[in-house]
Amino acid sequence: MITKKTVEDVFSVVSKKYDFFLNLVTFGKIDLWQRELLDMLSHEGNRLDVGTGTGEVLLKSQNRGLRVGIDLSLPMLRLAKEKCKVCHFLAADGENMPFKEGSFSSITLSLVFRHLINRKAFLGEARRVLKEGGELALLDINRFSLKPILVFLMEFPLKPLGILLFGRDKWAFFIHSLQNALSLEEVKRELKEEGFNVVEVQRRLFGAVYLLVARKG
Ligand SMILES: C[S@@+](CC[C@H](N)C(=O)[O-])C[C@H]1O[C@@H](n2cnc3c(N)ncnc32)[C@H](O)[C@@H]1O
Repeated sequence: MITKKTVEDVFSVVSKKYDFFLNLVTFGKIDLWQRELLDMLSHEGNRLDVGTGTGEVLLKSQNRGLRVGIDLSLPMLRLAKEKCKVCHFLAADGENMPFKEGSFSSITLSLVFRHLINRKAFLGEARRVLKEGGELALLDINRFSLKPILVFLMEFPLKPLGILLFGRDKWAFFIHSLQNALSLEEVKRELKEEGFNVVEVQRRLFGAVYLLVARKG
């Protein structure tokens, strides 16, 4: 069974190779997709990046306000701090956040939503720490469309490199997380159930990747 400890351990172990590998599996597109996600948001106010990893989203963020990143993995956060000295990073769980009500104007999650163990708990927390009308932005893999091809790539041509870089069990975790990706329709339904109105959706890589912005209702 995958627990938060598993997630923390996997990302801590892979932290130093993470950026290189993410660029490889997204055909170098992740940088552009993250910028495009940020462009879909208003640039006012404090921004929180949940599951910030190596801090790439906050590094690119142009918001006028605080830039705060949280993650379960300390090694990831250390790399993030090296990249963005003016950003604030802390070890915290997106499902139980250490922030006051209405602290942020926007929350971003890049490749994190499908890794959350309890998405309902996260969405409740996101509602709480967002201001009225605050924005939640997600970038993630869509279950349908090209997902079988991505799984195929990771199961076959990329597998030897993946195992070499990360080890067999960590590689299995990444394939599992890809197989567990939600469809865009499921994501929209979960957001609606937790009081978010989806205002914009864009698709990338023939629909395999979605960028979505929802507003706290
Ligand atoms: C695939 S990485 C994405 C990193 C970064 N956002 C990016 O786009 O490169 C997922 C990150 O989410 C973090 N994470 C997963 N569940 C979390 C949770 N409940 N709270 C905080 N961080 C979490 C992991 O530790 C990992 O660093």
